[in-house]
Amino acid sequence: MPKIAELRAIEILDSRGNPTVRVRVALADGTTASASVPSGASTGQYEAVELRDDDKRRYGGKGVRKAVANVNERIAAALLGKEASRQAEIDNLMIEMDGTSNKAKLGANAILGASMAVARAASISANLPLYSYLGGAAATRLPVPMMNVLNGGKHADNSVDFQEFMIVPVGAPSFGEALRYGAETFHALAKVLKKKGYATSVGDEGGFAPNLKSNEEACELIVEAIGAAGYSPGKDIAIALDPAASSFAVENGYLLSKSRQGNKTAEQLVDLYAAWVERYPIVSIEDGHGEFDWKGFVAMTSRLGDRIQIVGDDIFVTNTKFIARGIEEKASNAALIKLNQIGTVTETVAAIELCRRAGWGYVISHRSGETEDSFMADFAVAMGGGQIKTGSLCRSERIAKYNRLLEIETELGGRAEFSSPF
Ligand code: PGA
Ligand code: ZN
Repeated sequence: MPKIAELRAIEILDSRGNPTVRVRVALADGTTASASVPSGASTGQYEAVELRDDDKRRYGGKGVRKAVANVNERIAAALLGKEASRQAEIDNLMIEMDGTSNKAKLGANAILGASMAVARAASISANLPLYSYLGGAAATRLPVPMMNVLNGGKHADNSVDFQEFMIVPVGAPSFGEALRYGAETFHALAKVLKKKGYATSVGDEGGFAPNLKSNEEACELIVEAIGAAGYSPGKDIAIALDPAASSFAVENGYLLSKSRQGNKTAEQLVDLYAAWVERYPIVSIEDGHGEFDWKGFVAMTSRLGDRIQIVGDDIFVTNTKFIARGIEEKASNAALIKLNQIGTVTETVAAIELCRRAGWGYVISHRSGETEDSFMADFAVAMGGGQIKTGSLCRSERIAKYNRLLEIETELGGRAEFSSPF
């Protein structure tokens, strides 16, 4: 395997118009590849640190020139001459160089950009698609997409507290068909919203962001849209939620301030979700409680964990330390997996291996601030968990991932597998 000959980062913009890092790597055999780092809005407190310049004269302090310089100077100096296929060695070298527990020194954006670019270059040099390079010959399972069609919380300027209402085509026979089910339902939802006089402008992840009367109305509208698109709610298309409850957690509980539905205790939230699970075809709830509310997560899992998937995002931040505690305490039965929450490809794979060993589900996820990079689509196929969450059915930074999955499905042909984990 050829050695790394050059590593260079630049500052680019993400889908929200904020700066992020793109890293380009060149190998000694002439192979070049680049990778871009996404950025979250409803971030977990213990996520790896996204290094920003804090220079208020540029991008309101959000510039990433420091992270770019860390790649171009320190990381490049350490990685030049290393064999690109030695992913774990390269990632561990960057982790050691950084020396902090949360990548605060070099920046997780700098480190992850290099980590992903190296993986991609190595795959090209090995003449393998990225999903096969990372997942081997057995990587043939396309993920069921969780498509975020209604946005609230921190992702939209509306009256909805819960961040994501997603459709999950559990009855689709293939990824391509799942995507069609999703797109048709998305368009049907636009018509349902218009008919009711609601706005059809979209939030950060491309889902509609109307001012609804309540959080629950989102579920009603989605069920209506599924039917209007000609599908059977629950059988063809189910619902997944990400309330992202950290964003409305207050001292001693939760406050549904955007919808003006008042305070809730952790137990009352469990009751609310349990009632919704009865009324709507919900198969998965992520971050139903805040990241510090382990008791709430445990109560939720003991009440609903044998009926639906309970996913931890902000509470685990793709970190084996927190996932191990979650397994021990039965705080959920699945984890959300975001490469930039932990900051290297190698550590992300370790988090997934932990989930697999515990019999947990795992969902490969985008961030609300994304780029046109579709690394995570290949990564989802490589890891084979059968689930991906990458936003709505519009906005090219979301669609880029879906389109890449369509390409992969075509490339795999008869070898492509597709089965619902629900
Ligand atoms: P974020 O949201 O990228 O803004 O953190 C995504 C999520 O909460 O799953
Ligand atoms: Zn989340």
